Amino acid sequence: MGKITHQIEKCIGCGNCTVAAPDHFEMGEGGKAHLKGSEEEDKNEVKETEITEELKQAADSCPVQCIKL
Ligand code: F3S
Repeated sequence: MGKITHQIEKCIGCGNCTVAAPDHFEMGEGGKAHLKGSEEEDKNEVKETEITEELKQAADSCPVQCIKL
């Protein structure tokens, strides 16, 4: 298991993550991505999950690198 952190404040809503890992990301409030099933922690969205290839692609495809694995 690993941990995903989505830094909401940095997210510009480009949507690449929702294409790369639709099981984990959807577009949410304010035109930013929402990490499904996450909890808020220090203004970030976090959740424990298995780090899959899709998640690695989501992190790699984010232009502002606001997805940390
Ligand atoms: Fe936001 Fe990056 Fe996804 S900017 S919408 S987290 S690809």
